[in-house]
Amino acid sequence: MRRTIDWDGDAVTIIDQTALPADYRVLTLRTVDELIDAIRRLAVRGAPALGAAGALGVVLATREGGDVRASADRVAKARPTAVNLSWGVARALEKLDDGAEAVLAEALEILDEDERLNRAASAHAAEIVLALCNRRPLRLLSHCNAGHLATVAWGSALGVVWHLHERGLVESVLVDETRPLLQGARLTAWELAQAGVPYQVQPDGAAAAAMARGLVDCVLVGADRIAANGDVANKIGTYGLAIAARHHGVPFVVVAPSSTVDASLATGAQIAIEERAPDELRTLAGAAITPPDAGVFNPAFDVTPAELISAVVTEHGRYRPR
Ligand code: MRU
Repeated sequence: MRRTIDWDGDAVTIIDQTALPADYRVLTLRTVDELIDAIRRLAVRGAPALGAAGALGVVLATREGGDVRASADRVAKARPTAVNLSWGVARALEKLDDGAEAVLAEALEILDEDERLNRAASAHAAEIVLALCNRRPLRLLSHCNAGHLATVAWGSALGVVWHLHERGLVESVLVDETRPLLQGARLTAWELAQAGVPYQVQPDGAAAAAMARGLVDCVLVGADRIAANGDVANKIGTYGLAIAARHHGVPFVVVAPSSTVDASLATGAQIAIEERAPDELRTLAGAAITPPDAGVFNPAFDVTPAELISAVVTEHGRYRPR
């Protein structure tokens, strides 16, 4: 599969994640404003992919001229929760004094690194999952999309599935649909189908019941920001999954590149949580599903306390909270 986000020599190219699974199309983003719009619409999404987007945003800013640092700041603030976005911007900006070519080289290095680090993190996590679970082959549960599409390539939590599937160790994956934007039903299911991994999509509300019935050997999720103490921000619903997993004695494993660790935050209570537009909940596939002005609570992420997590795993192995 092509990279989720890439540089074609003149512009940023992304797989349009708003169109999948019905349409597979590639968008070309030539300006900082187009990139910011794509980030806000979730045409490009997922923490590691946002890291690459941040760095490429600085590349676009250098080409547009004007106040590069002000444009870079707008990119960094396009979404607040995934620390990778501002991390990618900051890494590219460090090269600004060396010129536009140095900024581009740094952004391309981030793109190259991404697959390598996600493969390594998910390989470590696969070994940890095998150590935590006795049953073979494994029945895994996934929330949101932490696959190829959430990274430049390969994936984090879903990368674990790829490693285990290569070894014939995956029986099936239960895919939380992930309301309201359906990253599980639309994107994770699409990736699993492409890879020939057996899966079932379930409503988010079915996850605890699946665990109660003994249908889940391990929960695997990605992360948008990991505080120094090991608290993890991830897609809304992750916290509830972790509570259910603890109640049922199911291991709960978080996989992310170390760029997702924000050591400047002591605990998850300090993580900014993005609130998204009410209409994401008031409508489904364009049709109204609530009274027109229904009040809406639509946080895009939640924070799972470290004590509910069996392991947080990066390319360096198990993350040791401070
Ligand atoms: O709102 P999204 O789709 O960007 O949220 C993405 C997630 O919550 C992912 O689980 C997270 O970024 C990890 S992706 C490897």
